[in-house]
Amino acid sequence: MPAVEIKPDVFWVGVNDRTTDLFEGIWPITKEGVSYNSYLIDDEKKAIIDLTKSIKGDEFLAQIDEVADISKIDYIIVNHMEPDHSGLLRTFRRIAPQATILGSAKTKDMLESFFSIKDNVQVVNDGDTLSLGKKTLKFFSTPFLHWPETIMTYEASHKILFACDAFGSYGAIRGSIFDDECEHFDFYQKEALRYYVNIVANYSTRVLRAIEKLSGIPVEVIAPSHGLIWRKNISLIVNLYKKWAEYASGDTEPGITLIYGSMYGNTEVMMNAVAQGISRTGVPLEIFDGSRTHSSYILPSLWTKRGVIVGASTYEVSLFPPVAEVLNMAAQKHIKNKKAAFFGSYGWSGGALKGLKRIIEPLKWDLANTLEFVGSPTGEELKKGERFGASFAELIKK
Ligand code: FEO
Repeated sequence: MPAVEIKPDVFWVGVNDRTTDLFEGIWPITKEGVSYNSYLIDDEKKAIIDLTKSIKGDEFLAQIDEVADISKIDYIIVNHMEPDHSGLLRTFRRIAPQATILGSAKTKDMLESFFSIKDNVQVVNDGDTLSLGKKTLKFFSTPFLHWPETIMTYEASHKILFACDAFGSYGAIRGSIFDDECEHFDFYQKEALRYYVNIVANYSTRVLRAIEKLSGIPVEVIAPSHGLIWRKNISLIVNLYKKWAEYASGDTEPGITLIYGSMYGNTEVMMNAVAQGISRTGVPLEIFDGSRTHSSYILPSLWTKRGVIVGASTYEVSLFPPVAEVLNMAAQKHIKNKKAAFFGSYGWSGGALKGLKRIIEPLKWDLANTLEFVGSPTGEELKKGERFGASFAELIKK
């Protein structure tokens, strides 16, 4: 993909990654891909804002060469040190040793520990500015969006906020990089939520603080380091971020996430009965097979919905491990204060419910109802399952 001029003398350059299977080594992106967006400002002084993961380096350097001589870059601004944005720093240092690297004080330490880079590094503090000639950059400290060192960079003449991870999404660029030209807007919105919950959600308080802090700044373009550049739907993505961040401690949507895991189909039969009961109430329901769905895709539903039903067999006197794995990831992400219910089959002693409680009690999930049965459910038990689903859904409506 060639460089794209997003505003006069401001260019998107970046890498579309369609070959990495796991983002951060955890989150699947095999189908979706991801983009690492970097931005070049061609002024009297030339600055590049964030780089890319250390892949497709030749392609990335060729994009920059279309616009400016890389060896004459004056500044490399490191908004965020995670190697999906800083992976090519050593390469840049070799090509443009004179370029000053700018970042926060924590970035300075990380540059040394990650890349053994110590020289020609300039610390920028909150509110500091840097003149490039006609354009001036301003830096804002936005810690934990997504690491503690993170800053955002603002270009005042075009009102562009270079936000790095914030407001970004999974998904390689499919044609246009601009939100108003994109034909797959729903896809990116969905992937922005998945990215938020997988990567950023743990720091939701910091997200709200950053939105508040930046609210007085006029922004016409949000240029994140993953996914679409927002220039038409700025308030939409900012409001979505605000809403998602508020879900960390406030009320969520009246819907149910049903996660089930079944060894021989008995718990699955009950799952169908429970789902039937829920469907009669009109409460939105998302169903996930915990054995076959990566937690990356389940977490957005857990994050946004008020209710959780866990259906799981007992396995070795505890909760069926694939389901436990999903819930442990929910615990890692501090997904708290849900209304919950449990159903599941056991062969002789049970134990799944105990295993579930061990995980959800620290998360303060309110376990409203449980339904256990031995072996395969009887017709009567399935009717009970329908009533169980319907009554839980009524609770969620309230
Ligand atoms: Fe896109 Fe936190 O790195």
